[in-house]
Amino acid sequence: MQFIKTETYEELSRKAAGIIASQVILKPDCVLGLATGSSPVGTYKNLIAACKNGDLDFSSVTTVNLDEYVGLDGTNDQSYRYFMEENLFKGINIKSENTFVPNGCAGDLEKEGEAYDARIKALGGIDLQLLGIGIDGHIGFNEPDSFFTAPTHQVVLDESTIKANSRFFASEDEVPKKAITMGMLSIMQAKKILLVANGAAKKDILEKAFFGPITPEVPASILQLHPDVTVIFSEN
Ligand code: GLP
Repeated sequence: MQFIKTETYEELSRKAAGIIASQVILKPDCVLGLATGSSPVGTYKNLIAACKNGDLDFSSVTTVNLDEYVGLDGTNDQSYRYFMEENLFKGINIKSENTFVPNGCAGDLEKEGEAYDARIKALGGIDLQLLGIGIDGHIGFNEPDSFFTAPTHQVVLDESTIKANSRFFASEDEVPKKAITMGMLSIMQAKKILLVANGAAKKDILEKAFFGPITPEVPASILQLHPDVTVIFSEN
């Protein structure tokens, strides 16, 4: 594992975008696993700038996102599909049919999970997975539990996650209580993992996840078993 501490969020964002840019340059038809949350926003801004100035071409790239709230469709401005459109997709030359986000409005979420994993497999797996980390150690929406869940599946969100994510909603009551998330199998099978975390509030959980015991109580700790992980952290 490579652990990079940056002085500023801007530096974190430039470095993370540089790693994703290298991936796209080296393999123009790569599969990028993408994340939401506030930490990757600056990374996406840098990727948009690089695409606009002609340094990056996303026309052959495919993206698969980690997760989505149950019950929110892509037109809802709190959905992760909407977040991705606003914060990345509309600024780059990616084909919209090559962007995938789990469907939180699917009638049968178990089937949706199976189809999502089958799609990732058919694409040849994820070349580079971008992750954030929740303050309880979740990656995607894989919450602390007594076991690691392999497939894409439905989860009930922890109180702490609902509280943390309520900053994006008008009130805590509006935060959906459930989500669908990529499971640990697709994440761990990604060839390369890049985790970005911004803010002093993430320091303790990063310590636990990467320097503590590997346990489903701290879902991100499973990343210690992955052969190619880069963590970029900015405290400021
Ligand atoms: C949400 C997402 C996670 C993300 C987390 C942290 O819960 N489902 O994938 O990692 O937010 O986001 P932030 O970087 O805003 O703290």
